[in-house]
Amino acid sequence: MKQSFDEKNRDLIVNVNGKLTHRDEARVSPFDSVVQGGDAVWEGLRLYDGRIFRLEDHLGRLRSSAKALAFDTVPSNETIIAEIKRTLEANKMRSGVHIRLTLTRGEKITSGMDPRLNQAGPTLIVLAEHKTPVYSKKGLTLVTSSVRRFPPDCMDPKIHHNNLIQSILAKIEANVAGADDALMLGKDGFVAETNATHVFLVHGGRVLTPHTRACPEGITRDSVLRLCVENDIPHEVEDLSLTDVYRADEMFCTGTMGELAGITTVDGRTIGDGAIGRMTQHLSGLYQELTASEGYEIV
Ligand SMILES: Cc1ncc(COP(=O)(O)O)c(C=O)c1O
Repeated sequence: MKQSFDEKNRDLIVNVNGKLTHRDEARVSPFDSVVQGGDAVWEGLRLYDGRIFRLEDHLGRLRSSAKALAFDTVPSNETIIAEIKRTLEANKMRSGVHIRLTLTRGEKITSGMDPRLNQAGPTLIVLAEHKTPVYSKKGLTLVTSSVRRFPPDCMDPKIHHNNLIQSILAKIEANVAGADDALMLGKDGFVAETNATHVFLVHGGRVLTPHTRACPEGITRDSVLRLCVENDIPHEVEDLSLTDVYRADEMFCTGTMGELAGITTVDGRTIGDGAIGRMTQHLSGLYQELTASEGYEIV
């Protein structure tokens, strides 16, 4: 899966610490923590008809990630929401928009990793782009990556941070193999997620997804599990091995950027009958109903 440039994004207005500028003029200092050490937290948000889906949960994850990283200050939800609103209004955006919200530890007085060098407060970046869900709905191809996801005692995936090198290395492996994305395992050998999304299997009518020991506490993942509860769909959170993947009836991935997308091939094996399964379609429809009816009205 390779994204392409959208002409609609040529003249985007970007918000860096409240300053709205054209995308070509937007600047982050070389002293900023995100440049120096990837020392930042982020969220991907999606705008549906003027409403941001599960905004409060995204802001909660941003705040708890910043707290775990011991950021001195985090802007209030009201401030962050106001900056998102200003950015969307400046770009006249209402729908089909993905927002990358980044909060860095801020500028340092000199180069170095020590957070005590940060004395200027955090940097808030709101980057909103015209971007419809990015994954093909015709069936994705995965290969299993040799790069493992960290367990909590290496780098807790509950912290949604900007060090994406693990994911990027896995994505390079997928690119080289001609696959859409990479499937990643945890150090225990069980399935964690893909390089960018959570994964679900359907087996004998049951919807299965891994624990969050080696993947973030996904908001779309949580929405799908809630939909299962509300619609009496049998489901389980459990350890899943590659064999469970290869013998699944259906497989799909989830994420704010691409919503739900069916996976039809993993490591050269066809999943189920190679078509997007009925449960995947059913849950995709339910998720679309949810995003069309819920969300924080912002513009
Ligand atoms: C590594 C990783 N996995 C999965 C996801 C999907 O999570 P969500 O459903 O909260 O967008 C994300 C999103 O940021 C992510 O960074």
